[in-house]
Order: sequence, then structure tokens, then C-alpha cells
Amino acid sequence: MHERVESLRVVGGTPLEGELSVLGAKNAALKHMVAALLAPGVHRLSNVPRILDVEIMGSVLRHVGATCERSGTTIEIVVPETPVPEAPLELVRQMRASILILGTLLSRTGEARVALPGGDDFGSRPIDLHLGGLEDLGAVFDLQHGVLRATAPNGLHGADVYLEFPSVGATENILLASVLAEGTTTIGNAAREPELADLAAYLTEMGADIEGAGTSTVTIRGVSELHPADHRVVPDRLEAGTYIVAGAMTAGHVTIRNCVPQHLRMEMSKLADTGATVTLGDDWITVDGPRRPEPIDFATLPFPGYHTDMHPQMVALLSVANGTSIATENVYAARFRYIGELNRMGADIHTDGQHIVIRGVDELSGCEVDGCDIRAAAALTIAALRADGTTTIVGAHHADRGYDGFVGNLQSLGAQIDRI
Ligand code: UD1
Repeated sequence: MHERVESLRVVGGTPLEGELSVLGAKNAALKHMVAALLAPGVHRLSNVPRILDVEIMGSVLRHVGATCERSGTTIEIVVPETPVPEAPLELVRQMRASILILGTLLSRTGEARVALPGGDDFGSRPIDLHLGGLEDLGAVFDLQHGVLRATAPNGLHGADVYLEFPSVGATENILLASVLAEGTTTIGNAAREPELADLAAYLTEMGADIEGAGTSTVTIRGVSELHPADHRVVPDRLEAGTYIVAGAMTAGHVTIRNCVPQHLRMEMSKLADTGATVTLGDDWITVDGPRRPEPIDFATLPFPGYHTDMHPQMVALLSVANGTSIATENVYAARFRYIGELNRMGADIHTDGQHIVIRGVDELSGCEVDGCDIRAAAALTIAALRADGTTTIVGAHHADRGYDGFVGNLQSLGAQIDRI
């Protein structure tokens, strides 16, 4: 079990040296756990990180009547013939990914009752695209007392869905609802994220008929039933990328193994522009950090653009660059809370609408900061690894939501970090 830990204490100044392996992607494993509900029987997911969000999703599965047992990095999920069509408020509130249970339960049972999702606070994160797509498939929604009830009076049937924005979650919800629907569904302007392609791979192993996952048009031919499958979760590009940026920030030398470098092409190419030497192997990446980063401009975009979940880490790196950088956040309207915390450490960063102007400073200095979400906690840790003196990152349980063995991994690279 994970303890809820309040703070991380980091003493800056040690270059990171060494190598690490990463596990499977949080943003894939959580979806696969939900997808398992589509086929009764025994599923095994391997390469699953031991993180808080996976535990929360395990509780969601248990609530609907499945069992979910972990042995190391493998989880075994036993799915009942008839799941309970309801996801409980106290769990859904904690994690936005639980909204995917909507399409899944609707498809399996003809009904779903789901409390509206929580998760990280990045301004308003609507689910209109999820609902619109499911409506195209025949769903009808009713919101009462914070609980969204979905039914499909005439069953779910194939439809031509076109998304206004390539939302990862909406694409996944529609995919999950359509694999057992009658007829053919196409999702246009679909998200192309590798975790979504991995979800489609798992569903295909379960007997689904899906074409084009990982491209902007996905075609799903509904099948009458699915069978359980075993699946290895795609490596976590965000975990790999975070440790690589941490290595660069400390002018260190770090190798990350068991990752898919092609999934980080944009992020690694931008990192190289800061003066880091980045080498991409078959399933490994090595970084040699510059003594001081050069400023760069970058903009977040859906895959294959620069990942929004790697933006705070890069801004932390650029906070000590030799000049001014501009980052543009195009995916979330309000992913800026960590910036005030970096400024408390001596950074000189301000925002103008969705643009972030980062004037590089010579040095950061440790103080107490608030790690307000998963990637903010990661970014503040990266800053702290270079800062003068000691930084205390409060709310560090956010790091445990996304990173398996965060503190131990950084310690193994030589970082002076512990939990308090
Ligand atoms: C997933 C990831 C998250 C990542 C994001 C973008 C998980 C559990 N989370 O989140 O870490 O940052 O992809 O790569 O996999 N939007 C709408 N209406 C909708 C749905 C989304 O307006 O119905 C907006 C969101 O508010 C946001 C943008 O679209 O501004 C992107 O959201 P989306 O791609 O759906 O992200 P998530 O699937 O929630």
C-alpha cells in the first residue's frame, strides 16, 4: 500500500548519474483496467505501475463487482458476467480517468451511473465531447444530484462521430462504447496518443475489430462479444521524459531503459535544442545535460506535438536558461499553478493568456513549495534538484499518483531526496 506522504525534501546541487527502467504508462493502465470490464473472465495486465491512481481504479473495479489483485507489477482482474452499473462518488471524485467507465458500463449493461469526475485542477475540464460522441451512438443522459445517468433505450449502434478537438478521453470513451455496439463506428479527428493505440491493441486482443488506432480516423466494427486477454502495458513516456529532464537539469548523465523513444520525439528534440545531448536507442534514451540550458520556445499540442504533461518539467528546466523562453499551453486553459511556486524559488516567469514567458535566472534557491498536481510535483522536484539549499515540496502525494518509486528512483541516480 502507498502511504499518503505530505512532503518531499530535496537538497539541490548533485548531478544525476546512472540508469533507470520505467514501467507501463499510468494513462494506459487506468484505461485498460476499465476496458477489462467489457469481457467477463480473467484478465492479466503486466508492467502496471504501483501508483495511487491504479489503486483507486482497483477500488472502482471492485465496486462494480470485479476483483483486482496485484502481484508485483502484474494485476489480475476477474470480471463478472454482470457488473454493477455504477461508479461511486468518493472514488470518481479523485480521478478523472474514471469517466471512461461510462461508455464501458453502458455498453455492457445498457446503463451507467457515474458521479462527475475530479482529478487535477487545470481549470474547467468539460466532458461534452465524451457525451456528444456517446449520444451519437444512442446514449441518453440525465444529470441529477451530481450523478450522471446514461441509458441506451434502443441499444448502442455504430455512428459517424467527429470530434471538435482530438480529446484523448473522449476518443477512448467512444472506442470503449463502440466495440460491442451494433454496426460500424468511425471516430474522426480522433486522438493519436500512444496510450490510446495501446488500449486499442488490448481490445483487439480481446477480439475487437478496430482499424486506424493511433491515426486521426479510427474505425470500429462492433462484435457480439469479447473474451479476456493478457496484455503488457505500453511504457510510460511521461515517467521516462521526467527523469530525462531531471538529468538535464542537473547537468547529469542519465539513461532510461524500457521506454519507447519514438513516443518522446518532440519532447527530446526540444530538449536537445536547450543544449542537452540526447541519444535515442531502440528502447532507451540517454541524456547529458548542458552546464546551463539555452532558451527555447515550445508549444503543447496533442500527440505527436509536445505533451502538455511534460510542460511544467520543461519550464522548470528553462527557468535557469541563459536567456528568455516562451512556452505556449494549447491543451489546458489553466495549467499554471506551479509557476507561482517556481517563482518562490527565485524563477522569473509570468503568463500572458496561454503564453508563459520564462526569463532564465542564474540560480534557484530552495524554499517550501506546493506540489499541486502530479506534473507540478515533478517539475518542482526538478527545480529543487538544481536549487541552492533545501526545498520542501508539500502535497508530494501527487507524485505518488503518477510515479512508481519516485523518491527511490531519484535516490538511485544520486539525488539527495527523502520523504518527511
Ligand atoms: C488525458 C490524460 C492527461 C493528459 C491529457 C492530454 C489520462 C488519465 N489523462 O486527459 O494526463 O494531460 O490526456 O494529453 O489519460 N476537453 C473538452 N471536452 C471534452 C474533453 C476534453 O473540452 O469532452 C478539453 C479538456 O478540457 C482539455 C482538452 O480538451 O482542455 C484535452 O483533454 P483530453 O485530451 O480529453 O484529456 P484527458 O483525456 O482528460
